[in-house]
Amino acid sequence: MTAKIIDGKEIAAEIRKEITAGVEALLADGGPHPGLATVLVGDNPASHTYVRAKRKACAEVGIESFGHELPADASQAEVEKLVSELNADSAVHGILVQLPLPAGLDEEAILKAISIEKDVDGFHPLNIGRLAQKGREPLFVPCTPAGCLVLLRKAGAKLEGANAVVVGRSNIVGMPAALLLVKENATVTICHSKTTDLPGVCRRADILIAAIGRARMIRGDWIKPGAYVIDVGTNRIDDPTTKSGYRQVGDVDFDEAMEVAGAITPSPGGVGPMTITLLLQNTLRSASRMRP
Ligand code: GUN
Repeated sequence: MTAKIIDGKEIAAEIRKEITAGVEALLADGGPHPGLATVLVGDNPASHTYVRAKRKACAEVGIESFGHELPADASQAEVEKLVSELNADSAVHGILVQLPLPAGLDEEAILKAISIEKDVDGFHPLNIGRLAQKGREPLFVPCTPAGCLVLLRKAGAKLEGANAVVVGRSNIVGMPAALLLVKENATVTICHSKTTDLPGVCRRADILIAAIGRARMIRGDWIKPGAYVIDVGTNRIDDPTTKSGYRQVGDVDFDEAMEVAGAITPSPGGVGPMTITLLLQNTLRSASRMRP
């Protein structure tokens, strides 16, 4: 069997066109110009790259972005003061505090300081709590897991009644992905470093979401024939044949998985472009909701 490739770049491009049209329609209708504030604390190079990409994507769809940078030694009070100013700023419809924050800052308190109406990352404890509860709906859902679900739906996966296995239980991806799948009536298993017989658990998955951050850890013979595989991993491995000397691979051994899975996302070009797309979509929704 050769798996179908789920092209995240193409799907993201389609949705970004709809977002561009949505921004234009909102403006034409007298609505506010959607605005996203980014908060970057410290000098983590990967975080700088991600925030730059997010702001560039905003510009491409007509969303305004406001970049705020604080030094690595910024105090808890300084970060919270900035967040509260952004909460009060009517030009800002979404606030994104890039994670991870420098050691010493209280991440939970900072995420809690974001107004839930502007929590376009969906990390506010109230939004996450609602995601975890039956009959309650969060105002926003975290972008990477939401992107995974869009890819599964576009690929034609049936979620209701499916055995879904999520490998990884991070606050940003694994746990909210599992909660979203439960809301879709999948039967969900969450795996982590203490899981016994991880290959055996993965082999029962109709839907497998890999979010562990270990290069090509999930092998072809861990995958159920025909399964939908979503690879969230973005790991760098040495590759002297490339100009940079490295290349990106996922958490799944792509070549092996291609022989077994029904459908699979590549890395790069799978989940990555969807994360930013869902952030843009959340910001547009927030602006639409806040219109006077
Ligand atoms: N760090 C890694 N992924 C994300 C994300 O989706 N949002 C934020 N704020 N920080 C991150």
